[in-house]
Amino acid sequence: MVNRFVDLKENKRPIVGLAVYDYMMAKLASSIDIDFLLVGDSLAMTVLGYSHTKFVTLEDMIRHTGAVIRGNQNSIVVCDLPDGSYDDSAVALNSSNKINNELGLKNVKIEGRADIVATLVNNGFDVLGHTGLKPQSAEDFGVVGKGEIEALSVFEEAKKIESAGAYALILECVPESLGQKIAADLKIPVIGIGAGRHTDGQILVVNDILGLSDIKKPRFVRKYADLQGQVINAMRDFKNDVINGEYPSQDEIYR
Ligand code: KIV
Repeated sequence: MVNRFVDLKENKRPIVGLAVYDYMMAKLASSIDIDFLLVGDSLAMTVLGYSHTKFVTLEDMIRHTGAVIRGNQNSIVVCDLPDGSYDDSAVALNSSNKINNELGLKNVKIEGRADIVATLVNNGFDVLGHTGLKPQSAEDFGVVGKGEIEALSVFEEAKKIESAGAYALILECVPESLGQKIAADLKIPVIGIGAGRHTDGQILVVNDILGLSDIKKPRFVRKYADLQGQVINAMRDFKNDVINGEYPSQDEIYR
């Protein structure tokens, strides 16, 4: 399955990913062949209403990844390992085995930790790496790798994650020049999120592209719809129809 990623890098067709969290969105996204569906730990904020990804549990991730798998037709599905679920090799293997036992899925993502990437790969898991901004451990959510020293440390971590056997890398919130350098240097595909125009693909969060929330978004987020407005209008119309006795109508009742 993940060889599809490498083929895409070689064929120079950008790879497209979406972070999704439920059955219906997975169904819609995979119906147009989005290459991969990441059940991101951003689930914590987008769906569960927490203030930080660290509050999402492995059980939450398994439940939502199960829903995405049930909606998926032909996309690659990846389950993010949440904070605390890969602190050392034993814990990471335990968490990944749990995902595999419950969902039959051996495709996981972790932030940083090339050592854990290697352990998981050596135990038969497909691992999507993640560097640049790493929300689970970041102290603030700005651009990472602006200065020379920080840029070098992101570059080196990307190289280590590749050497550890990850099949692709998510690169989050770095200057475009650094995104370009890493994508050019690595053999595995580099998927950007706020990493500029020269990576091998892009991923965004489905709630963001649909405009479901009015929280201020980083500059790399492009809104392709304003569903928040439409959802509120539909709910308001329903409320008014009920209050005004216009719902249900003659045609909407059983006789
Ligand atoms: O959790 C998440 O949404 C992510 C992003 C990189 C898409 O990890």
